[in-house]
Amino acid sequence: MEDEGKTKEQLIDQVAFMRGRIAELEEVERKSKQVEKELKAIKAQLSNALEMAHLGHWEFDVARDVFTFNDQFYKIFHTTVEQVGGYEMHSAEYAHRFVHPDEIDIVGEEIRKALETTNPLFNRTIEHRMLYADGTVGHISVRFFIVKDSHGKTVKTYGVNQDITERKQVEEQLRFISSRLLSAQEEERRRLASELHDTISQTLAAVKFWVEMVLSDRDKGNGGAALNHLEKFVPILQRSIEETRNIYMGLRPSMLDSIGLLATLEWQRQECMKFYPNLHIELETSITEEEIPEGLKVNIFRIIQEALNNVAKHSKAEWVEVSLSNNGTGIELIISDDGVGMDLEPVLSTCTARSLGITTMRERAELTGGRFSIQAIRGEGTTVRASWPSKVVVGPFSRCRTQDRQHSVKGVGPG
Ligand SMILES: Nc1ncnc2c1ncn2[C@@H]1O[C@H](COP(=O)(O)OP(=O)(O)O)[C@@H](O)[C@H]1O
Ligand SMILES: [Mg+2]
Repeated sequence: MEDEGKTKEQLIDQVAFMRGRIAELEEVERKSKQVEKELKAIKAQLSNALEMAHLGHWEFDVARDVFTFNDQFYKIFHTTVEQVGGYEMHSAEYAHRFVHPDEIDIVGEEIRKALETTNPLFNRTIEHRMLYADGTVGHISVRFFIVKDSHGKTVKTYGVNQDITERKQVEEQLRFISSRLLSAQEEERRRLASELHDTISQTLAAVKFWVEMVLSDRDKGNGGAALNHLEKFVPILQRSIEETRNIYMGLRPSMLDSIGLLATLEWQRQECMKFYPNLHIELETSITEEEIPEGLKVNIFRIIQEALNNVAKHSKAEWVEVSLSNNGTGIELIISDDGVGMDLEPVLSTCTARSLGITTMRERAELTGGRFSIQAIRGEGTTVRASWPSKVVVGPFSRCRTQDRQHSVKGVGPG
């Protein structure tokens, strides 16, 4: 009985023990499921992060001369593991498929350095041109590290690749714009120098000539003739005043500060029509001076100036309308002509076109928180639009002022 009882007790203990173990195992299973779930989420996050950063991971086994890639790596090159046929690839095939032919030597040299280095902390970032799967060219940044064995031999390299094509394109555009700005500045100086030479210098030379005549008459005791000569000064000086005004108005329209933008636009319209008698300009302004932020005024003036220069120079238009309005949601500027229109494609691709005028108009609008667009229909005309929302940020205006460059020293002359 006692034995039986003991056995029973032992059994009860054993069952209790087993129950405890089961509960423990269940807890372990629950935890491992939880860990697995978390791991999956972290992997997904990592994959998203790699994707968002355009990063692709790779490893290179030196002894086997074989790369191992991941899906994101292939995504960078616009291909997939199915298309390539696996995650592993010999270095020669990698170079052939993905490295621009002109850069293979540079990349090879970097790999050689990584294999030869004695520095265990060796790491490098190189940028080079790459080939997408369809053969088009992009740019890539490769950051890589090395792993050495106990004898100090490099056995593995690994790293991440990042597609930097967009960044390179932006850098290229910036370089292009800066060089265009520099040459525009030079051109502006050259034009200003010749304008000064052709106008004020000429006038001063003429005045000097007449002053010498007057002095000579005086020395000869011929006072009457001297006074007659003086009369000739007046129209010469008058013309010189106008020419000087044209020059400084072109450099900085001081009228904006004294009489405001709307009156300056009317002056600009009349001057432009005097300069180009075959062009009729309509000016529609449904906005008050106070509704236009101070810093925006010079930019609106310059955009209209460049647009009118373009109409006069390129469009063969007879009629152009400049409309500046407050349409409730903000300020809208439209310059529309009935000229020959144009092919926008080459003009809008900044890197290839000779279109500093249009680029500058766009920059003026966008740097002041506005939007810019241009529409053209061959044979029907061109419309330039710039608009600024009501709550326009006035911050960058001062920057635009310092960049306040334009193409014509005559306020509205050819640009
Ligand atoms: N209103 C327009 N009508 C027709 N063509 C235009 C007009 N505005 C600009 N264009 C075309 O766009 C090109 C680029 O203009 P722009 O950037 O101002 O440079 P630029 O005036 O120095 O040539 C011009 O050369 C011209 O071919
Ligand atoms: Mg132009």
